[in-house]
Amino acid sequence: MHPVLRHTLCLFNTVFFLAGFIYTCGGTLKGRNGSIESPGFPYGYPNGANCTWVIVGEHASRIQLVFLSFAIEEEYDFLSLYDGHPHPANFRTRITGFQVPTPVTSTGNVFSLRLTSDFAVSAHGFKLNYEELQSSSCGNPGVPPKAVLSGGGKYAVGDSVHYSCVPGYVLDGHATLTCTTNAGNTAVWDFPAPFVEDTCGGTVGGGSGVVTSPGYPNNYGNQADCTWILLAEPGDTISVIFTDFQTEEKYDYLEVEGSEPPTIW
Ligand SMILES: *[C@@H]1O[C@H](CO)[C@@H](O)[C@H](O)[C@H]1NC(C)=O
Repeated sequence: MHPVLRHTLCLFNTVFFLAGFIYTCGGTLKGRNGSIESPGFPYGYPNGANCTWVIVGEHASRIQLVFLSFAIEEEYDFLSLYDGHPHPANFRTRITGFQVPTPVTSTGNVFSLRLTSDFAVSAHGFKLNYEELQSSSCGNPGVPPKAVLSGGGKYAVGDSVHYSCVPGYVLDGHATLTCTTNAGNTAVWDFPAPFVEDTCGGTVGGGSGVVTSPGYPNNYGNQADCTWILLAEPGDTISVIFTDFQTEEKYDYLEVEGSEPPTIW
């Protein structure tokens, strides 16, 4: 390699390396609670980042992370969680994408996070609060997108929370969680937080198919408002054959209409 070119490359590497150091990136956090933001939040984290945060609780307790905001380039940049110090044996999960994750709780008083980003494209990053959980608290169970949480009190043993969802969505899982104690006398929710599915409505094409109400054969939820569009090739007609039908008489309806006269009912 030409010496001048080699020198230029070295200089470039050095500058890049220094740039990585100038950024405040990761660290050890102590205390009963606090918050963590990715560098540059909410204006985007740097490319080539490798930031590790180690949260060390004050007491022999668990640590809960509650995410407030989350946007990381999907499948290229990741936030890895370690249940303890950031060793491969403690690796628990990798989070990526644009959905705010539900809260996560460590089993001990150390919780570590590592943000790794590739060489291109960033996103606004993440912000979270962490907090030590008393052994008598189940902690915030989280609210999935499109869900509504009621009840809960202090999330202590005996407290219950109830989930519902906004119109047009259905819950998949248990609607009510109760804080109980496990064999080790630690407070835990009796079920994981439910998921929310927007299986309500959609566009169906392709010759033939099946459409069911949300949650079928179980009851659909209250306040549902679902629209299905069945598409066929121009000139074709569509027949709809009901194999099962039950709605609350006088209050709930299924309306069927065609897009062109004379098939508008
Ligand atoms: C990030 O840094 C840690 C230690 O500081 C290292 O073990 C790990 O391999 C690095 N990860 C990447 C993707 O560079």
